[in-house]
Amino acid sequence: MGEPEFSGELDELDRRTGGELRALAAFGELRSKRYHTALAASGELAAKRVLVVGAGDADGFDRETARRVGASAIRRLVNREVRTVAVWLGPIAALLPGGPALAAELVARGVVEGGFEPKAIYRDDTDAAPPALDELILVAPGGDVPALERAAERGRIIGEGANMARRLANRSANDVTPQVLADEARAIAEANGLWIDVIDERRAAELGMGMFLAVGQGSDNPPRMIVMRSGGEGETDKLGRRLALIGKGVCFDSGGISIKPSDRMEEMKMDKTGACTVIAAIATAARLSPGLPLLAVAAAVENMPSGRASRPGDVVKALNGQWVDIINTDAEGRLILGDAMTYAEQLGATHLVDVATLTGAVGRAIGNLVTGGFATPDPWWAEVAAAGDRAGERYWRIPLIEDYMPEMESWYADIQNTGTPDASLVKSGLFLEQFRTVPWAHLDIGGTAYFRKAYPFAPRGANGVTHATLVELALAGAG
Ligand code: BES
Ligand code: MN
Ligand code: ZN
Repeated sequence: MGEPEFSGELDELDRRTGGELRALAAFGELRSKRYHTALAASGELAAKRVLVVGAGDADGFDRETARRVGASAIRRLVNREVRTVAVWLGPIAALLPGGPALAAELVARGVVEGGFEPKAIYRDDTDAAPPALDELILVAPGGDVPALERAAERGRIIGEGANMARRLANRSANDVTPQVLADEARAIAEANGLWIDVIDERRAAELGMGMFLAVGQGSDNPPRMIVMRSGGEGETDKLGRRLALIGKGVCFDSGGISIKPSDRMEEMKMDKTGACTVIAAIATAARLSPGLPLLAVAAAVENMPSGRASRPGDVVKALNGQWVDIINTDAEGRLILGDAMTYAEQLGATHLVDVATLTGAVGRAIGNLVTGGFATPDPWWAEVAAAGDRAGERYWRIPLIEDYMPEMESWYADIQNTGTPDASLVKSGLFLEQFRTVPWAHLDIGGTAYFRKAYPFAPRGANGVTHATLVELALAGAG
């Protein structure tokens, strides 16, 4: 692999460029390696240039690949004078079971996601960002034009939602405090016709969110439980569900008194990515299906050491009435999520999905290109995994082995927040499981939430992972 085969459409394209593509291939510049890009002179074609993106082997080419091909294309054009891009969908449509409409959606989404550039968040660094297009032309001869347009529009909206989550997640902790995240959520709610309630530390105390407050109490930036709703109070979707999306919003995770080593501690400004993702996902779902019944609960805190911070050994009462022994203040995500899950159930949620940068262990186990999932019961996992397939996102399920529960027993409380170090990944899921009574899935994006280096298809930083899955899962309940 690496040498493209010049047959069919590629052969015709080469002819029209006056043999440019074959010449570049012979020179080693144009390769079929996945996400490899080459810019060629366009010969007799009306375009200024021809951009060839490698798709790699046909087997293994999936929805994720299609989207990343679109993203790689636009990223290759950084600093180029481009206002219009036309994409030949034929080869992508041929490789996907969904045909041209699915190819249109994924390519449009990929081009929008590929256009995201974190270097431009704080600086006006226009040179770093891929070109803002006036027009994206999708070419699929024989396609049904209105259907393709609808598909591309859906892709664009999902891509924009992912970028909204990424921008929020990438912003630094001196900028995005829990209150600022709540303000951003309010602006997003207002723009999309969503109901919003922001619970401050006083109301959280009245309600009894002891775990949530224990994590937030060390910081001068007080915690905020952000609750958003699309659709009317008490409404169920077409599947009879009241789905709640729960997000971990640790605006900075220093570890608290169980402080983290300073190496890469700066990454922990991204520990709010789950919250940013559910805030964006409920907005995207509402854009695609206004009035769809859906809840989002984003638990926003800053985990800091101070004279007011929680200590290892502190015993607190969770919103669901359980007593919890905080052995390690750095296992804070499960504390805030547990109370957020209980609160979602109190609001009537019948199905839960949480998204969290919960562990470093998940990244060590399966890396940064597949998200770890936990769920119970099995049919709920099947639905979440199917939504992931539709979204073009990868998941691998990790088992909830109940036999490890005795290793999380506490002398003083019903449970402790960390057990013995073995199987710490499974135990993180087991802890959360104690705070659900309805079908629940947990997506640990500790490995996948953000890239530590740039790829051809994405810059360094938050990548929007799980946003599209949540949207697909919610939209399954639309009419
Ligand atoms: N936010 C971290 C997990 C994390 C670390 C995500 C690095 C992405 C990159 C989480 O709050 C944490 O500190 N987890 C601990 C749990 C441990 C104390 C049981 C971990 O993974 O080490
Ligand atoms: Mn932590
Ligand atoms: Zn954390």
